[in-house]
Amino acid sequence: GVVMHVRKVVVPVAGWGTRSLPATKNLPKEMLPVFRKPAVQYIVEEAIQADLSDVVFVNHQNKTIIEDHFDYNLALESVLERTDKQELLKQVREVAEMVNIISVRQKHQLGLGHAVLCAREVVKQEPFAAIVGDDLMFSSMPGIQQLIEVAQAENMAVVGVVPVSRDKVSSYGVIDAEEIGPHMYRVKDLQEKPDPERAASNLAIVGRYILTPDIFDHLEELNTPDRRDELQLTEGLRAMARKDRLLAVKLQGMRFDIGNWVDYLTANIYFGLQDEEVRDDLVQRLQELLPCPE
Ligand code: G1P
Repeated sequence: GVVMHVRKVVVPVAGWGTRSLPATKNLPKEMLPVFRKPAVQYIVEEAIQADLSDVVFVNHQNKTIIEDHFDYNLALESVLERTDKQELLKQVREVAEMVNIISVRQKHQLGLGHAVLCAREVVKQEPFAAIVGDDLMFSSMPGIQQLIEVAQAENMAVVGVVPVSRDKVSSYGVIDAEEIGPHMYRVKDLQEKPDPERAASNLAIVGRYILTPDIFDHLEELNTPDRRDELQLTEGLRAMARKDRLLAVKLQGMRFDIGNWVDYLTANIYFGLQDEEVRDDLVQRLQELLPCPE
């Protein structure tokens, strides 16, 4: 058969970021810096590494600085040019030249499923990737690439999961699944943010998906016009699971959920420790903060 070709990645970024308030009162959570870059830049870089060519931001009117970050800033560039800051100039321009950006408005904040549905006219009839703008993964093979390979091999939609401790399952979508190979599962059902006592597993969705366009029909069916609750992507995925058309892959690598302060702080330290310029001083400052062992 024909190998599934994934070109576009939908990145929903319109959420309120209530978990990160008050930092996110006026700053999009996706723009919170993780060491030298805003969180969302890591997502875009992951997509580029996986050869995805178009980033579709599903955005809200107050958060357009996210798109601006991936555009030129001519005023800043002229200052850097004039003051001969060539290295910074290069870094600032590089971000604008990274990738093709398509922007779609989510005019009402009706949840992740609704956000994905907003991208329907752009994605059309192609399989596509989706990554939430604040859930970071780092590994030698990008998380989304790990999913693309399985989606292509099996010609099916795939969600990325990682094991989390039981007390954390209520923050995530969770799969009810049967292991069919190394790191691979057939998804029978899903639960969105279940109480730990009733969770089917501790395999939590890490905001990475390869979706086939039939997800739009499933979401549309759920989207009754008078509904006031959020339309969950997980609910659309349940419909695919019921048809036996959904796999899950246990992703390898480091995962940082930026909406969780411990993960956010750890991500900053993780990158700081990898940077030769700051590593030694950072270790020293951290040691000052930690109580001396007896
Ligand atoms: C969303 C999804 C959830 C998933 C999570 C990953 O939740 O609804 O299933 O586990 O992203 O980050 P949110 O964090 O938007 O509440």
